[in-house]
Amino acid sequence: MTTYILRSASPAKTKADAVVVGVLKSSKGPVLATRGEDVAAAYGRKLAPLLSTLGVTGKSGETAKIPTAGTIGSPLLILVGLGEAAALTPDAVRRAAGVAARAVSNAQTVALALPATSPELVAAVTEGYLLGGYTFTRYRKDSATPSHEAPEVIVVAAGARQKETVAAFERAQLVARATARVRDLVNTPANDLYPATLADALVADLPDGVTATVWDEVKLAAERCGGILAVGAGSSHAPRLVRLEWAPEGATKHVALVGKGITYDTGGYWIKPSASMTTMKSDMAGAATVAAALSAIAALGVPVRVTAWAPLAENMISGSAMRPGDVISARNGTTVEIINTDAEGRLVLCDALALAAEEEPDAIVDIATLTGAMMMALGDRIAGLVGDDDVVEALTAASEAAGEPVWRMPIPDEMAGRVKSSKVADLTQYDGVRWGGGLFAAAYLREFVDGRPWGHLDIAGPSWAGSASGHVTAGGTGFGVSTLVEYVASLA
Ligand code: BES
Ligand code: MN
Ligand code: ZN
Repeated sequence: MTTYILRSASPAKTKADAVVVGVLKSSKGPVLATRGEDVAAAYGRKLAPLLSTLGVTGKSGETAKIPTAGTIGSPLLILVGLGEAAALTPDAVRRAAGVAARAVSNAQTVALALPATSPELVAAVTEGYLLGGYTFTRYRKDSATPSHEAPEVIVVAAGARQKETVAAFERAQLVARATARVRDLVNTPANDLYPATLADALVADLPDGVTATVWDEVKLAAERCGGILAVGAGSSHAPRLVRLEWAPEGATKHVALVGKGITYDTGGYWIKPSASMTTMKSDMAGAATVAAALSAIAALGVPVRVTAWAPLAENMISGSAMRPGDVISARNGTTVEIINTDAEGRLVLCDALALAAEEEPDAIVDIATLTGAMMMALGDRIAGLVGDDDVVEALTAASEAAGEPVWRMPIPDEMAGRVKSSKVADLTQYDGVRWGGGLFAAAYLREFVDGRPWGHLDIAGPSWAGSASGHVTAGGTGFGVSTLVEYVASLA
């Protein structure tokens, strides 16, 4: 594991294997950003023509590697584009740090001399670099992937000894590592990660003060969790429910986090087209996210009581699988007609939401790779956010601080009636209308929160990336961990 060190060193004198400096676009051409001043001074008048021949403009995503041949203390200078100076936001810095991480291979020590001029920006540099250099190597021969992981990374910042800066730096590492943990779980294929093994992973290495409970299929039946059991019925890997709790002394607020944990989604008898199925090992991202967020919250000692609920099942086809037309009884006694076996997420979530609501928390937030419809609406980088005003407002603010974009979506009035349109059961889980499918799903989930303040994040799009961009690497992204940690911390 990489050790991160915060230091107020001079980047030109630092003896690292590589020094990373930011480049800004300006009307006068590219300029080195704050912290790059003494590097610029060391190059003097040679710098501008050098940048010009390298084609460096400072635009976001750009990198250039320059052997320094003694001009500065480190043998390699890595320039990374930050975009326009006027738009130098924490997001831009996080992105650039992520790009820089992938430009580094096989270094022992890397110094990051990016414009970390506030605690917030120090956090952005740290998070961006840690996540941008993420690789998933569990199934590869050692030599097949270049290592972006240097044993030592120095974050150069003027405020290196200030309390707030150190705290932001430590917290950024913790949250980024929790995010990387979600990436690992999402990237792990479903032949190794099924409900029992995912449950084991979610309860392993918990911080002090976190308690865990796991229900197996026998207990789920005794506890009347008909939705989780129906979805899990087709698989030879039985379902599970994981509950984690962080209950710090003196906490006055309680938040419940609920995450969808489908370890593989074939669609069941409403089978998915093969091409849509290939990435469905990622359908447990919500479950991994709530568990990782709770662990980070506990490790940070946030004085808010948090419970995390992760219903885990594998949606498969077999002689014991659920059928379109089956009726199940959910945890709260509501009967549900199953129409579309591929709308399985809401079936496991409804039991978990009802269980969460029984403990009467002050707010319930669920996060789920729930609908392709939300992806159609918002693309694959923005999560759909639905729910009550107060929770939605707090989650929106948290997502901005985290750099994880969300967009509020409504529950149109007619949905309340449409979820009750079954001819045989209290609710229907799907009514055959494709339009606004993400909003219908949200309306269905709302039936199970018992009127508690509620927020719903549909992360079908941003939980997975087809290719790397900024600090987001290809595969599982860990989207939502940082937002949930910010959200809970904002209630303290
Ligand atoms: N897991 C999928 C949603 C999904 C789609 C996640 C694409 C990530 C990428 C979910 O279980 C699903 O199949 N949803 C259906 C719902 C529909 C049948 C009402 C969908 O979106 O097509
Ligand atoms: Mn599905
Ligand atoms: Zn699914």
